[in-house]
Amino acid sequence: MLARIDYYTGNRPPEVTNITASKVYGKLPLPVIFTVSAKDPENDKLTYVWDLGNGLKKHTVLPRLAYTYIKKGNYNVTVNVSDEQGAMVKSKVVAVFAGNDSRDLKAKLAIEKANAPGKALMLSLDCKACHKVNEKSVGPSFTSIAKKYSKDAAMISRLSQKVIKGGHGNWGDVDMPAHPALKPEEAKKIINWVFSLK
Ligand code: HEC
Repeated sequence: MLARIDYYTGNRPPEVTNITASKVYGKLPLPVIFTVSAKDPENDKLTYVWDLGNGLKKHTVLPRLAYTYIKKGNYNVTVNVSDEQGAMVKSKVVAVFAGNDSRDLKAKLAIEKANAPGKALMLSLDCKACHKVNEKSVGPSFTSIAKKYSKDAAMISRLSQKVIKGGHGNWGDVDMPAHPALKPEEAKKIINWVFSLK
């Protein structure tokens, strides 16, 4: 007789759609409630490990965390969401500016920029391995890219295509790898954020 045993190995990782903060700036002490939207295709119980951007990590079983910042600083907060099979997905970044009451316009703009959808997307991808905001790294800084080109629909589209297809020649001989998984709308969101740095 032939016995058949099926091992179920098709666990899919959780889907993490959004991380939000009840406040992204304010005077110290700054109490913030972080919330993440995540679900698991197998309806596994999810667990959460929050990186508070200040060296501290917190575990929760609910998709929420309350934390009070007592030191001035800019904190990039993310959460790793794991299912019962150990599959883990990292959220995008939400930036919190503690000790900044945003009365000055420049600070307010910096806060908005830091939480722009294009920036969060960029931080969730490999871009940051080769690009910094202000200094040259493997690739040119995002600020110098913003300065080199004038922002119009054709340029946004050209730069988005370059990110998707990869290439070289505008800054030297080093190649930027292709990002075929990136959708044109997503690339455009990032390029729009790049132009906001000008
Ligand atoms: C392995 C390194 C690397 C990675 C990863 C990378 N880049 Fe680049 N990028 C480069 C290099 C090198 C250049 C310069 C290419 C040239 O000379 O035309 C560049 C150029 C660019 C430019 C300017 C293009 C032009 O024609 O002037 C943009 C915009 C850009 N990158 C965005 C991104 C974004 C967004 C990501 C993430 C999705 C990313 N890069 C990931 C290395 C990288």
